[in-house]
Amino acid sequence: MNYSKKYLKEANKFRSSNSSCSGAVCWENPSNIALIKYWGKKGDQLPQNPSLSFTLSNSITKTRVKYNYNESFRNSHISFLVNGEKNKSFEERISKYINKLLMFFPYLKFTELEIDTKNNFPHSAGMASSASAFSALAFCLTDIEYQLLSIKERKNEFFAKASFISRLGSGSAARSAYGGTVLWGKTELIRNSSDEVATPVKVHEVFNDYRDLVLIVDSKSKEISSTAGHELMNNNPYQKVRYKQACQNLEQLMDLMRIGNTKGFSEIVEYEALSLHAMMMTSSPGNLLVKPNTLSVIRKIRKFRADRSIPVAFTLDAGANVHILFPGNHSDDVMKLVKDELLIFCPDREYILNEVGSGPKKIS
Ligand code: DP6
Repeated sequence: MNYSKKYLKEANKFRSSNSSCSGAVCWENPSNIALIKYWGKKGDQLPQNPSLSFTLSNSITKTRVKYNYNESFRNSHISFLVNGEKNKSFEERISKYINKLLMFFPYLKFTELEIDTKNNFPHSAGMASSASAFSALAFCLTDIEYQLLSIKERKNEFFAKASFISRLGSGSAARSAYGGTVLWGKTELIRNSSDEVATPVKVHEVFNDYRDLVLIVDSKSKEISSTAGHELMNNNPYQKVRYKQACQNLEQLMDLMRIGNTKGFSEIVEYEALSLHAMMMTSSPGNLLVKPNTLSVIRKIRKFRADRSIPVAFTLDAGANVHILFPGNHSDDVMKLVKDELLIFCPDREYILNEVGSGPKKIS
């Protein structure tokens, strides 16, 4: 299926069922943590390799959009509040995004929008917030289109379109459209998978009960934005090998996740995290995003896994903080490890605990 062609065709036929109309929509959308990493893109926000993630339960962006559609409006006005305040850099990124969406959502030309968005996890957490932020906004904008066209709930189509629109804001946001384990990117392993939208995948039940505990070893904002990091892949001498490796890791990981092999899962997930950072280090200029405390935590986690045979694994985002992934039935042991041995590496003894979450939620 060519989604952009389909949505452009629909956009050309756009006629609102009212000449003026106003209302409000609100969505709470989660962030996600990649197990197989998306690092490198092509075309308009298309991934160089398929990626796989867990949707998180507690790291959420809540976005409310008030809209006022009137066919007589021209150059409609948009206002933004981020956590109750004006935010210049976010505003610029969102304005660009909304302009880009005009071809898919012609209604935006005639609509005033008041966007109010809040993250429940602190920006200082250094955790990627673009996935939940773009996902929540994209769900609101898709919902408004459905209201203007008086389309009654058509669940699968709505979620696919919202994932497509999310991706145009931030690639990883495409995956936040669904709960559980989510794939984004075309692969022969999954029928109907696509570079344009994400697809939820079925895995063994043990992985539906996983936890993701993020240790905040460094609360500063990222030294390099993901967008700039993706761009550096274009000149990375190892890029081709990396894209191939990601596909092989995906195939192995999906097999392991289908049969519930938590030990194999840990090995592949850590290999992916280290490969992501290897790509950052071998880009030009090279970026070293891990900190001494990141490495100390990683060593402790590996030792704990070897000593106790508990399938705990680490993964990393494009930063220094460490995500610890483990099955829910080992929570007591892992929390003891965290409190006794790992929080000393976090300057504010800060961590965020997530379960694998159920995905976006519409707030009425
Ligand atoms: C390391 O989705 O933040 O977290 O598409 O430019 O917004 P843009 O990048 P983004 O990149 C995420 C990179 C990553 C890996 C991942 O989430 O797959």
